[in-house]
Amino acid sequence: MTKNQKLLHWVKEMADLCQPDNIYWCNGSEKEYDEMAALLVESGSFVKLNEEKRPNSYWCVSDPSDVARVEDRTYICSNKKEDAGPTNNWMDPVEMKKILNGLFAGCMKGRTMYVIPYSMGPLGSKIAHIGVELTDSPYVVCNMKIMTRMGQAVLDILGENGDFVPCLHSVGKPLAKGEKDVPWPCNETKYIVHFPEDRSIWSFGSGYGGNALLGKKCFALRIASVMARDEGWLAEHMLIVGVTNPAGVKKYFAAAFPSACGKTNLAMLTPTIPGWKLETVGDDIAWMKFGEDGRLYAINPEFGFFGVAPGTSMETNANAMLSATKNSIFTNVAYTPDGDIWWEGMTKEKPAKLTDWHRKEWTPESGTLSSHPNSRFTAPASQCPVIDPAWESPEGVPIAAILFGGRRASYVPLVVEAFDWNHGVFLGATCSSEMTAAAVGGQGQVRRDPFAMLPFCGYNMGDYFNHWIQIGKNHDNSKLPKVFFVNWFRKDENGKFIWPGFGDNIRVIEWAFNRIDGADTYIETPKGLIPKPGTLNIDGLDITDERLAKLFEIHKDLGIQEAENIREYFKTFGEHLPSELMEQVDKKEAAFKNM
Ligand code: GTP
Ligand code: SPV
Ligand code: MN
Repeated sequence: MTKNQKLLHWVKEMADLCQPDNIYWCNGSEKEYDEMAALLVESGSFVKLNEEKRPNSYWCVSDPSDVARVEDRTYICSNKKEDAGPTNNWMDPVEMKKILNGLFAGCMKGRTMYVIPYSMGPLGSKIAHIGVELTDSPYVVCNMKIMTRMGQAVLDILGENGDFVPCLHSVGKPLAKGEKDVPWPCNETKYIVHFPEDRSIWSFGSGYGGNALLGKKCFALRIASVMARDEGWLAEHMLIVGVTNPAGVKKYFAAAFPSACGKTNLAMLTPTIPGWKLETVGDDIAWMKFGEDGRLYAINPEFGFFGVAPGTSMETNANAMLSATKNSIFTNVAYTPDGDIWWEGMTKEKPAKLTDWHRKEWTPESGTLSSHPNSRFTAPASQCPVIDPAWESPEGVPIAAILFGGRRASYVPLVVEAFDWNHGVFLGATCSSEMTAAAVGGQGQVRRDPFAMLPFCGYNMGDYFNHWIQIGKNHDNSKLPKVFFVNWFRKDENGKFIWPGFGDNIRVIEWAFNRIDGADTYIETPKGLIPKPGTLNIDGLDITDERLAKLFEIHKDLGIQEAENIREYFKTFGEHLPSELMEQVDKKEAAFKNM
């Protein structure tokens, strides 16, 4: 167990508030996982999958009202409103604590409070940090076991005086004496709250994904971004991937795309051009610190993948499919008559009959989706066939390039390279994307999602931009990663994707890889550097020159208009916006006018 007084004291205090029937300290063993899963099977939350088809795996469906992150219920409660900035919901921390104390009072009655000590990052790594989540959800315990390194080993590292981020979570559904539980308890009232100065997290009412697995978006991004600002490092919504070219040279890339815009896919893609190899370090979050050699090193703080299911198949992402063949949890997908799982896009042919994510019988004629668009698999990263040999390296891997991107049907080119660091920061800051099912509400609408961090930045986004600018000022720019912007999602007039995407994205990676080495393969445009005609490898691709040109089309008038839109957008950050970014807008506008 533990002699850590801060932890013991906090657990007691929270138990007094939440009044669980029992307190259970998770040790992280397989036996414990099996017991927890058995409990979930018994309560009707989990259905064990056919052991021969998918060993040690479970199917689970949530309450239909609890299916994704709730951004409008997510708060950054800094002491000053200004420190949360214009892009975050804010409430005075004292006011918020009052509300939360009311909601959490007695909220675990009839349930067990599980204590989950977990490490974000390899155990004992200098880049890693420890959190402790208290939760009344055994579903959360099982998912945290896959997604983080958790249990007694973490308490051992924490020791008597170690520090941790306290994370309190409740589904918000106390049980009266004798009351029967429902398969997915949750509460209509939801609060996902962060106190950046205390470095603590309180989450109430949801059992799903980033709302409830508090190590992920709450800690590793919202709280960690504040730590990173204070300590001079970066906590980012980025995949990390190792790329080896046919000559055997290896470089690591990090890439920030908004939720459900292709990180998991790029992190483990199967290259369609011969001789190239990709290896996965992480698929969602990167913590990056500077090494003594002045280069930026990244670790994946997570231990598993919580990946979007629909659209994932042996054709689009074989390595994700293979990662989830055993020891996995599937939430809000469909269940097959032979005890396995299915989702839209998994196979070309739809199964004749399924149980859908509403637990209703489903056939291809039903005219509905069998799986929720934000249904997900939880799978151990170690099971990824192309997991990088250095994925658990405590020092991290050196990052040679950063890609920003989004989901844009028009206007945004397939790839552009930033002129320099500040222009790269500008590209990150102005990223916009169509909203996806990963968050509740607004699907399809284009919104600004700077650095893919709009829902995940724990402080004023203007200050965050400045943090990135300062990184460029304070470090040797020749050692900083090169920055690129990509968009796999441009559509033609018939609404079809022009670029084949998935494994063929290696073609864009190849161009970027060679540009890092200074290849003479670019032309300059007002948006940045794009491939010189003939230098993007399209061997074997069925794409006409005309369609290829469409992927790089830029328009003078739209460019000038866009500069004006960005200027207005930047003004919303007031004095927090670094002047370097306004200079970038002026430059861009002038370049378009001269076009
Ligand atoms: P989060 O886990 O929410 O952060 O998402 P993510 O960024 O990891 O997105 P993911 O890789 O899971 O992809 C989301 C959806 O986009 C899936 O349905 C994919 O099939 C689809 N997708 C991914 N890459 C491509 C691509 O290159 N082209 C097209 N057309 N679709 C893609
Ligand atoms: C995202 O929404 O970006 C995710 C899923 O990766 S969740 O863990 O729910 O945040
Ligand atoms: Mn994500």
